[in-house]
Formats: sequence, C-alpha cells, structure tokens
Amino acid sequence: MHRKIAIVTGASSGIGKAFIELLAGDNSGSFIPPFDEIWAIARRADALNDIASSSGNGKVVPVIADLSEDSGIRTVEDKLKSEEPVVGLLVNSAGMGIKGQVMDKPAKALDDTVRINCSALSRMIRITVPYMKRDGNSHTGIINIASSAGFLPQPGFACYAASKSYVISFSRALSVELRSLGIDVMAVCPGPVATDFQRRATEGKEADFTGWRKNFVIDPDQLARKSLQASIKGRRMFVYPFSQKLLHLASKLVPVSWILGIESKALKE
Ligand SMILES: NC(=O)c1ccc[n+]([C@@H]2O[C@H](COP(=O)([O-])OP(=O)(O)OC[C@H]3O[C@@H](n4cnc5c(N)ncnc54)[C@H](OP(=O)(O)O)[C@@H]3O)[C@@H](O)[C@H]2O)c1
Repeated sequence: MHRKIAIVTGASSGIGKAFIELLAGDNSGSFIPPFDEIWAIARRADALNDIASSSGNGKVVPVIADLSEDSGIRTVEDKLKSEEPVVGLLVNSAGMGIKGQVMDKPAKALDDTVRINCSALSRMIRITVPYMKRDGNSHTGIINIASSAGFLPQPGFACYAASKSYVISFSRALSVELRSLGIDVMAVCPGPVATDFQRRATEGKEADFTGWRKNFVIDPDQLARKSLQASIKGRRMFVYPFSQKLLHLASKLVPVSWILGIESKALKE
C-alpha cells in the first residue's frame, strides 16, 4: 500500500509553514484531506526540524533542498523514486523577490528570483505529477503561490512581478493540461501577507510592510486555509482578500500605459 503524502515547498517559514501546520494538525471531521506524511521542503534545516518536532505526530518529514539548484530538485526526485508515494497535494510556496530597480541589483538577484519563482516551481510539478493519482472522489491538487504583483508590471520590483505573471499564466495553462488526470491546478494571488518576505525583499531595511500596504496585510494561516478550500472546490485562480480582487478588476479595466504613468510618478517620489 502506497503512502499518501502532501509536498510543501517554502515550508520553513511564512505561507509554506502555515500550510504544513494546517495539513499536519488533527483534521478529523474537517474539510482537510488526511495525509500519512507531509514533506516539508526548504534550505533551513533547523527551521524545518523545529516545525517537524512541534507537529508532534511524526507526519512532517523535513527535506533539505535548495530548489534553485539542479541538485536540490534531484534530492526530491530521488526521494519520490525510492519511496513511490501517492502525492495528493503539492503546494509550491518557495519564492523570493529583491526590491529595487533592475540596474541597481546584481545579476544574481535576478537569476535567483527567476530560478526559484519560475523554474523550481515548474520542475517541482514536472517531477511530482507522475506520482499524483486521483483515488475515488478524493481531491488531488497543485497550489502555486503567485501574487497580486503578477497582475501588472511593477517598476522597482520588475523581476518579481514578471515572475509572478509567469506563475499565473503557467498555472492556468496547466489547469487545462492536467484536468484529464483529475489534478486541480490553482494559482493563489494574495496581496501583502505577514511573513518574513518583506524583510528579505528589502534586504533587512523593512521588517514589515509600510505605507498604504500595511492596511491590507493578511495572516498566512488564514490564507493557507482559504486557499486549500478553494483548491478543493476546483478553482483555477484564487485572488484573496477582497482588496486584491478589486486590484485584479482594475488591472483588466485600466490601460497599462496609465498604470505605468502612475507607477512612474510613485517611483520618483
Ligand atoms: N508575504 C507576502 O506578502 C507575499 C505576497 C504574495 C505572494 N507571496 C509569495 O508567497 C510565497 C511564500 O513567501 P512567504 O511570504 O511565505 O515568505 P518567506 O517567509 O520568506 O518564505 C519563503 C520560503 O521560500 C523558501 N525558499 C526561498 N528560496 C529557496 C530556495 N532556493 N530553495 C528552497 N526554498 C527556498 C524559504 O526557505 P529557506 O530560506 O529555508 O530555503 C522560505 O521557506 C512566495 O512565493 C512569495 O512570492 C508572498
């Protein structure tokens, strides 16, 4: 009998960690599907080990891997090959962004952003789908954490916003390609979330979101729960919360040239 597992990348903190805690809890009688194991993937071993031991039920399995490297992807691929589990859920939450204008940033920051946000996410899907088999009516899904930053070009955060446009477009196309296999693919588009993301994106300059963004910050646990519910309902795109739905609507209605004009003024301030 193959074990049924969930795989979560970006599991050492923030949204990924919230998914791990949601999936590893005592969920009997709730909408959350049961898993024998939850593979928690990230680079920071200490953080993953702490999360695994505080879950207290031995279900959380730390997998230490740098997914921006071929060797990191191979670590996960080899583990799948040797253990042959059935994967019921893949959450791609590993991600990063570095704020600042492109010409002010080292090439490595751009490369790393594309590697982890786009290539690693795509390759994780590529290696995991062969192990995803829908059994009966149970849900089988892939949840890709994109961002509302992917709705529009963003001067001052250009590479990150473009990488998240990739995640949205890729997820939507795959939701069609993988539907015949019974796999629900969904992109999640939140606005600001209370995690370590902003501190890392500003290279330690801002511990939290500032300015107007701080009024829209949501909790990662709430986002993980609502996202899983939406994936189980078979949604292809989950924009959350309502403030981001308005932004999504505006991104479709307002000409991009106008938005770039507004953003250009904001960049000069
Ligand atoms: N927070 C927000 O406001 C926000 C809004 C919209 C979308 N998002 C997206 O949400 C996702 C999760 O971010 P977060 O907010 O939870 O931030 P976070 O707390 O900084 O988490 C990022 C996660 O990605 C992992 N990671 C980064 N580079 C990696 C690599 N090379 N290999 C393996 N794992 C790597 C990190 O683990 P290690 O450092 O241990 O490897 C960490 O677990 C990202 O895709 C982000 O773009 C965030």
